[in-house]
Amino acid sequence: MATHPGRLSPPDIDPDTRVPERSAVPPPVHGVLADERTTTTDGTVVVRDLVRAYGLGEGDGRVLRGLDLSIAAGEFVAILGRSGSGKSTLLRALAGLDHDVHGTGTIAVPDRVSVVFQDSRLLPWARVLDNVTLGLKGSRVRELGVERLAEVGLAGRERAWPTELSGGEQQRVSLARSLVREPQLLLADEPFGALDALTRIRMHGLLRDLYARHEPAVLLVTHDVDEAIVLADRVIVLDQGQIALHVEVGIDGPRDTADPRFADLRAQLLAALGVPLTERAPL
Ligand SMILES: Nc1ncnc2c1ncn2[C@@H]1O[C@H](COP(=O)(O)OP(=O)(O)OP(=O)(O)O)[C@@H](O)[C@H]1O
Ligand SMILES: [Mg+2]
Repeated sequence: MATHPGRLSPPDIDPDTRVPERSAVPPPVHGVLADERTTTTDGTVVVRDLVRAYGLGEGDGRVLRGLDLSIAAGEFVAILGRSGSGKSTLLRALAGLDHDVHGTGTIAVPDRVSVVFQDSRLLPWARVLDNVTLGLKGSRVRELGVERLAEVGLAGRERAWPTELSGGEQQRVSLARSLVREPQLLLADEPFGALDALTRIRMHGLLRDLYARHEPAVLLVTHDVDEAIVLADRVIVLDQGQIALHVEVGIDGPRDTADPRFADLRAQLLAALGVPLTERAPL
């Protein structure tokens, strides 16, 4: 992957607080993870034979059943799947946040991983800039935080409290917080799921811009087929704990929902999701 000329070296990260979302996760309950977790140095993601099972689930409780997935450095992959198909479970496994589950397999991810969730998970008692730089150390951290906030259109709001921001603005702070860490892998679990349709479309443009500028690999979980096609290089469908379909989007330039190639892809993905033809409109 070509290195962006303006790319900044990552700030010093306190290993105890590198992924602030970790602190929001409850402590281990009953999980036994026997997977092998390693770090890749080239920004790639490689998952092999990943199994995840919650003790009290249906049948044998398996949510992921020997799942294999590779993501190239800087590649944008969207993942679709019915509710309960295991998308968040996969994302949590990649983030190393799945302490309450049984499982095996191998996971190799880059060193710097950031996570964005559907809710912004900002600390209400910390100002916007402090939320963005939480857990980071170093002389340039403040400056980087201010830069990232400007990139997401929030210049001048550094000293605001999270409650003074709209939902879309809070989610932009969350994106700034993830990017200040210069992630090689950005994991996003329905990051726009709680936003209204118009804000959502604006966020798509913002995410595309940020992606082009920072070039992380991205794994985006979404329920929105069009969102997946608009944003991703490749879309995968999760079903029965495995990947049922992989499609390359392969549409250059702005992706127009009226483009017949877009419509073909949409139909293919909806079919893989088990949505009958009669229920497919409007999106
Ligand atoms: N902590 C948990 N304990 C027990 N079962 C769980 C736990 N987390 C998830 N599950 C179960 O695992 C299955 C997959 O959940 P997961 O959250 O990964 O689905 P998902 O694809 O992200 O769904 P959604 O689209 O609704 O967010 C579901 O049946 C869910 O009930
Ligand atoms: Mg989920």
